[in-house]
Amino acid sequence: MKGQSRRKGRAKHNKPQRIEESLQPKHSIKHKKKTHQPQNTQSNISRRKGRANHSSASSNPPKSSSSSSSFLDKVKARLAGGHFRMINEKLYTCTGKEALDYFKEDPDLFNMYHTGYQEQMSHWPEQPVNRIIKWLKDRSSSIIVADFGCGDARLAKNVKNKVFSFDLVSNNPSVIACDMSNVPLESSSVDVAVFCLSLMGTNYASYLQEAYRVLKPSGWLLIAEVKSRFDPNNGGADPNQFTKAVCEMGFTSELKDFANKMFVLLYFKKKEKQSSKSREIEWPELKPCIYKTSLTFICIKTRDESPETYLSDTR
Ligand SMILES: C[S@@+](CC[C@H](N)C(=O)[O-])C[C@H]1O[C@@H](n2cnc3c(N)ncnc32)[C@H](O)[C@@H]1O
Repeated sequence: MKGQSRRKGRAKHNKPQRIEESLQPKHSIKHKKKTHQPQNTQSNISRRKGRANHSSASSNPPKSSSSSSSFLDKVKARLAGGHFRMINEKLYTCTGKEALDYFKEDPDLFNMYHTGYQEQMSHWPEQPVNRIIKWLKDRSSSIIVADFGCGDARLAKNVKNKVFSFDLVSNNPSVIACDMSNVPLESSSVDVAVFCLSLMGTNYASYLQEAYRVLKPSGWLLIAEVKSRFDPNNGGADPNQFTKAVCEMGFTSELKDFANKMFVLLYFKKKEKQSSKSREIEWPELKPCIYKTSLTFICIKTRDESPETYLSDTR
């Protein structure tokens, strides 16, 4: 039963409604059927509680509009969280090309994703992008950077370097919208390629191949990724297998930093000379970083105290 409602939720969320739309009382028809409701539904319990308190409730002043608006804000936040998780899961389970088409169809989904992403990141003690900003600030500002999957282009905004920022959607003139497996840069044209939490697509190896193409010899490849994706004890990839695959592409591994609780930082350098051997590289699967699911019942009471119950799968 639980599985069924979750599957239904998924199908419904293939293209999420806007938050405001999902708050419209389109299920209010349910509320005419209240005589058929089973005895102990959440809505009946709420109604009974309402009756028991009726005399004191009637003498109480009406609830202020600020408390109902803060309740609505909470509802909106829960729904937004659900939409974020759904878009996030999509990005981790499709190719870059599919992700590009997904956002082309509805660019608002990108903003929804980034609002949720910023919310999630606000709980992290340290943001990996700040570590990369610091790394760049410790070097010459003349080095040229390509930021693959730049998000809100925080990296470009915080360094003096020339930064080419790429993402699936551009909300900012400095961001180039594209699938990062094919960026509009000349071969051997940048000194540093950055992937900060952006190896999301199932074809992530093609993003790294593209970084290899645009990097100058001896250029740096910096990868920051969610730690659990490199935890073999929890279904994550073996970091050594991942490093070996990157090195087989033509890099040397310079530093692996596993000190942070939330993310790992991997530093590679492109070899001066390309290896003549062209063999098939075995890339480990990088497990999607999926956030927890919660099934939320939201009970909204209208003025006449008839409850309307919405079932919201906030995946
Ligand atoms: C988790 S966010 C990280 C954003 C930014 N790097 C940061 O650290 O704040 C990952 C970003 O990668 C982008 N992305 C994922 N796959 C992509 C692709 N194939 N091409 C371009 N951008 C991609 C997503 O749209 C998203 O903005």
